[in-house]
Amino acid sequence: MKKILSAPMAGFTNFAFRELLRFFGGVDVIETEMVSARSFVELELRSFDYPSRLWGVCGESGVTVQIWDNSSDTLSEFAGRLVNDFHVSGIDLNFGCPARQIAGKSASGSYLLRFPERIGDIVSCVVKSAAGIPVTAKIRLGCTLDTINAIDVAQAVEAAQADGIIVHGRTAAEMYRGNANWNEIAKIKPKLKKINLYGNGDIKTVNDAIEKLQNYPVDGIMIGRAALAKPWIFSQIKAATQKLQIPKDPSNAELNRIIKIHYELLKKQLNTQSAINQLRKHICHYTANKTNSRQLRNNICKTNNINEIFNIIDNFLKNE
Ligand SMILES: Cc1cc2nc3c(=O)[nH]c(=O)nc-3n(C[C@H](O)[C@H](O)[C@H](O)COP(=O)(O)O)c2cc1C
Repeated sequence: MKKILSAPMAGFTNFAFRELLRFFGGVDVIETEMVSARSFVELELRSFDYPSRLWGVCGESGVTVQIWDNSSDTLSEFAGRLVNDFHVSGIDLNFGCPARQIAGKSASGSYLLRFPERIGDIVSCVVKSAAGIPVTAKIRLGCTLDTINAIDVAQAVEAAQADGIIVHGRTAAEMYRGNANWNEIAKIKPKLKKINLYGNGDIKTVNDAIEKLQNYPVDGIMIGRAALAKPWIFSQIKAATQKLQIPKDPSNAELNRIIKIHYELLKKQLNTQSAINQLRKHICHYTANKTNSRQLRNNICKTNNINEIFNIIDNFLKNE
């Protein structure tokens, strides 16, 4: 059975969002935001504290933590702690992030795609310290269109005994421009002997997901941005793959309830102001396709009072 993965998204896939994904179902692997291995090690030394992105992980069943750095020692120390103390279900190594703070200043993320051998060394060390817990690597096609080397990287990841490789079908230089190139993702599969290949990029609808699963030689798909607007999309895709009736999108009244549950989940981790700030971002995604959504966005930014925000949403969804 092909798997459906939810993508790591910094600033979004926190505890509350992961709980919502579990509530709707249909996801085989749920990932955290990327967590800096170095900040884990340093914070613990200085203050016996953990990065906030690990909040909730310890008690969650079935969560994969995505980690980043460029030192195999630091990454394997962190991976070992995640397995032994946080009881995670999987570790995903970030070799795809093109952001300047990660790929530039910190020589991590997609910067490392230049060096498949180094990626292989890192994966090998992390696999050892993960002691049987699945390790995946998330990559892009390469650094630039002229230097696409996803096959070399995937083979290094396979030789290092990883469980799988997730490929976002763009280069780092492309950031999010253009379209994800699934033909380049497809070229990787025949070059692998046993590890799983997961394709990622631009799956926006249930039909897109089914089309990718049927027409490309992948063991599964990963979905990011589409899930921000529709965290229930995984349950619809799962039903479609099983030839079951596809659950409908929530009605406006149901969406209103979901937004309120989302806020309650955010409040478990965050203070009121941070929970409101975070909720605003999600409301924008939930309502992006509705008429007058821009007006709604403006209105919810004018107040910091959660009851006023709820009133605005109530009226919007009643009249929309
Ligand atoms: C807001 C945002 C944050 C992201 N954060 C991460 C991250 O922490 N780690 C990572 O590997 N990719 C990250 N990504 C990339 C996604 O995981 C995914 O590869 C990309 O969005 C393409 O998939 P999609 O078209 O389904 O969104 C992020 C993307 C977005 C839009």
